[in-house]
Amino acid sequence: MLSVYAEKFSSDDPLSGLVVGERPDPEVPDGWTTVQVRAASLNHHDLWSLRGVGLKEESLPMILGCDAAGLDEDGNEVVVHAVISDPSWSGDETFDPKRSLLSERHQGTFAEKVAVPRRNVVPKPTSLSFEEAACLPTAWLTAYRMLFTQGGLKAGDTVLVQGAGGGVATALITLARAGGLRVLATSRDEAKRARALEIGAHEVFESGARLPVKVDAVMETVGRATWSHSIRSLRPGGAIVISGTTSGPKLDDAELTRIFFLQLRVVGSTMGTRDELASLVTMLDATGTRPLLDRTLPMEQARDGFAAMADGDVFGKIVFTR
Ligand SMILES: NC(=O)c1ccc[n+]([C@@H]2O[C@H](COP(=O)([O-])OP(=O)(O)OC[C@H]3O[C@@H](n4cnc5c(N)ncnc54)[C@H](OP(=O)(O)O)[C@@H]3O)[C@@H](O)[C@H]2O)c1
Repeated sequence: MLSVYAEKFSSDDPLSGLVVGERPDPEVPDGWTTVQVRAASLNHHDLWSLRGVGLKEESLPMILGCDAAGLDEDGNEVVVHAVISDPSWSGDETFDPKRSLLSERHQGTFAEKVAVPRRNVVPKPTSLSFEEAACLPTAWLTAYRMLFTQGGLKAGDTVLVQGAGGGVATALITLARAGGLRVLATSRDEAKRARALEIGAHEVFESGARLPVKVDAVMETVGRATWSHSIRSLRPGGAIVISGTTSGPKLDDAELTRIFFLQLRVVGSTMGTRDELASLVTMLDATGTRPLLDRTLPMEQARDGFAAMADGDVFGKIVFTR
């Protein structure tokens, strides 16, 4: 079947290990099912995989892609939950030490078909297109859990989203607005700041700029480049919720004094549960909120999408279609 896969790793030139070609159909273990992929979206995670982060050499070749929407074996429209937990695990699967994301241990979604455990298939409402639904399982689910589960935010709270152009960041802005929050966002780029306003931010600022108010929580995916600003933007008792470190994980100044003196909370967040994905799908169906698509490309042209993400030339999600 047509697949987009990693053949080798390169930290300097990740696209050199990317192949668009033929791979065998997926194996389907007991309790698993096959989804015919209609649309799959690109995440920074896929670039990390090509750099050899989170993926082992012995797993190559590996079909990339965490997110998909398509048709189940009975022809129902479904969204695929990307977190694969151990069969013996019960409860919140993000806490399962043996969990993996599609494309880490099991073949990913950038292919004609993907095999997943039966419970990883969530019904897709017809109000969402396949392209829109394919954006949800990684970036949008991560944003949902950051805001409403780990951040504990509620209507009327004020939130700062760092790095407005990112896949997770655009999801954070849109979902926060739909959830009744006051939304502040930063970006290094003026055009991205303007677009952040269009998708729901109330106010936008240059990265690192002083804010007019202290916020209840900061949603952090940028890491090193914005950490200090995030800590300084919080009200006493506020929370920084972190799910990524695009600009690097090592800090020049962790702002420890501020953290203890202002009694700030630093909360990690990773992906989300199947139930949170189902709630997110319902939220979009009920509110009419939709993921922002940067571009849609046929899967055969996946390389162009990877190149755009590697160049940082993206606002919203890149989706590959079949
Ligand atoms: N834990 C999880 O479950 C989970 C799930 C999904 C993603 N992630 C992680 O979250 C991060 C974001 O993922 P993504 O897919 O949203 O990535 P992305 O679309 O590439 O977005 C990254 C954003 O970071 C900002 N940025 C990058 N370098 C910066 C710098 N030096 N200074 C200031 N801002 C900078 C940029 O914003 P501007 O250009 O607007 O300034 C950029 O748009 C990644 O590290 C990813 O691995 C984690």
